[in-house]
Amino acid sequence: MYIGVDYYPEHWPKDMMDQDLQGIKGLGSNMIRIGEFAWHLMEPKEGEFDFSFFDEVIKKAKEQGLYVMFGTPTATFPAWLAAKYPSILSEDESGNVRVFGGRRQYCFNSDVYRKYSAQITEKLLNHYRDEEAIVAWQIDNEFGHEGSDMCYCEKCHNAFQHFLAKKYESIDQLNETYGTIFWGQTYNDFSEIPVPKKTITTHNPSLQLDWARFRSHSVNSYAHEQTQIVRSLKGEHQLVTTNVSGGFFHKWFDHEENVKLMDFVSYDNYPVWGGLAEPIPPAAIAMTHDFNRGLLGKNYWIVEELMGAQGHNIIGYLPRPNQAKMWSYQAFAHGCTDLLYFRWRGMTKGAEQFCYGVVDHDNKYGRKYKEVQSVFTDIVQYENVLQSPIAAEVAALYDYDNIWSWRFQQQSADFDFTNELLRLYTPFFKLNTPIDVISTNRDFSTYKVLLVPALQIIDRDLGEKLTEFAANGGTIIFSFRAGLKDKTNNVHFKLTSPGYIAEACGIEISEIEALSSGQYVPLKGVGSKEGKTATCGVWRDILTPTTAEVLYKYEDPFYPEAAITKNDYMEGTVYYVGNGADESVLTDIARDVLTNNNMTFIESPDGVEVVKRTTTEGEFLFLMNHTAEDQVFEKFALKPYESKVVRL
Ligand code: GAL
Repeated sequence: MYIGVDYYPEHWPKDMMDQDLQGIKGLGSNMIRIGEFAWHLMEPKEGEFDFSFFDEVIKKAKEQGLYVMFGTPTATFPAWLAAKYPSILSEDESGNVRVFGGRRQYCFNSDVYRKYSAQITEKLLNHYRDEEAIVAWQIDNEFGHEGSDMCYCEKCHNAFQHFLAKKYESIDQLNETYGTIFWGQTYNDFSEIPVPKKTITTHNPSLQLDWARFRSHSVNSYAHEQTQIVRSLKGEHQLVTTNVSGGFFHKWFDHEENVKLMDFVSYDNYPVWGGLAEPIPPAAIAMTHDFNRGLLGKNYWIVEELMGAQGHNIIGYLPRPNQAKMWSYQAFAHGCTDLLYFRWRGMTKGAEQFCYGVVDHDNKYGRKYKEVQSVFTDIVQYENVLQSPIAAEVAALYDYDNIWSWRFQQQSADFDFTNELLRLYTPFFKLNTPIDVISTNRDFSTYKVLLVPALQIIDRDLGEKLTEFAANGGTIIFSFRAGLKDKTNNVHFKLTSPGYIAEACGIEISEIEALSSGQYVPLKGVGSKEGKTATCGVWRDILTPTTAEVLYKYEDPFYPEAAITKNDYMEGTVYYVGNGADESVLTDIARDVLTNNNMTFIESPDGVEVVKRTTTEGEFLFLMNHTAEDQVFEKFALKPYESKVVRL
């Protein structure tokens, strides 16, 4: 397995390199990740390529027995390129060009950028394809991060019009699909179509969704071009990856498509970032791992694992002693096989002065150094365990079309797709159940349980797939607004919601209400849930059961109708949670679902995560104490933020 740090030797005096590499080796590392922002160093002037600096880094790394992951440097282009071709710079919604100075400010639809970035990648690959020490290539750095997936420039505008012309063939077809008759928006020609920048009120929903698909196409066609170059030139011993950033459901590109040519997925795991007073909840961190494992349906790497406090401007929470270690164990538990910490040493100059690393600016090997050492010396014993596949029987489904559709029409001020996915995911996570987070494109027929949050776009095909899943004995938990729209982002006509899944759910949605921030509606258990009370926020569908059993009703004098239902559908069971129900309700349902499906789950104290992994050598438990208190799980005592692997 590969373990190590992200190292930027170009930031430091050259004569520090030997000592640094020895220090890195002293952590127990066997890998450094380098190069991803160093285009100027490799091509200081147009057409003058010079890899001598990295030749030396690699030579010295080899002397220490360190392998190398090398990043193609296209996330930060040289100043001379922007000066010569300002057209490579992307533009925000207000028409402001993103000037040279930050990073990732290139336009994915710039032919000039595509040409120059292809060239540097080719040169780099040709130079290092036979280098034994380089065992993995990272493409670019965090595609689409920090808002870089959105650009409204003229090149994007033209390319969007061509994208639509290709998709719809005739303008009449587009007009018909979008319903541009509304507000008299009929187009005579594709050249009249705008990019959906700010306007008065809002743009056509079908146009907006096509714009999101076009953004995704722009990012991914560039990513694929770069990946093909690397794949065609690399040495046989070299693998290809790209690093996925956090916030992936807030991005304008389909991640599954993005990584489809990669050998493995890499993830940058930052459970806390500048400005946050505390880390994101354990379930939210876990979900990001399950998402990354789901992208290629196999275990993955972490190439940036947080160790120190981080922030470009506002800094935030400082991980408590052993907390960053615990997040690493959590990553290993969820399928991470290889892990690199960000970064070897905090930099004294440049934009990331406050992104603290394993070592701080004073260059003393202190608390964090020892914490990393303790991870590396321990975890190498469990390589086989980390390699073992994770066999989840529960899958949470997402679909980027659906996510984008919600982003353009939020409908409820409190709606956020990630939160809605977590609403269904968290109860199963807390019962320590393995969960895959996968897109609706995947074959989900072999799972036992599907969690389907706020899937408002369900066309006939997907409706049939989901219905068949239930008919064959699967359990599905849908949450609100399901089945409202088709893939053009239009509302189904003459098809009562939840549309193509209505029969499987055994309900009809009679009316709906968006709940404002802080507005909660009481829920009252009935039948098998008699006596239980709860609340819901964000949204409520008012349900009329056709064949479903009612579990909860709204406590409301005007709409005292069904709020949550359960339907026995052929061999399976379909729950419909028509609102943002609170955790107690969903935990209760999760327990019922696991019990009824004869699936094992592990009860653990709140904040203690337990993951069981099985190999041919036996069973292992990963124990993670996410709390600041001492905890006990069965016979195992855990100090605050302690984590460990134990063999059963
Ligand atoms: C990541 C990025 C790194 C660095 C890091 C700071 O998103 O890939 O280059 O900026 O954040 O924490």
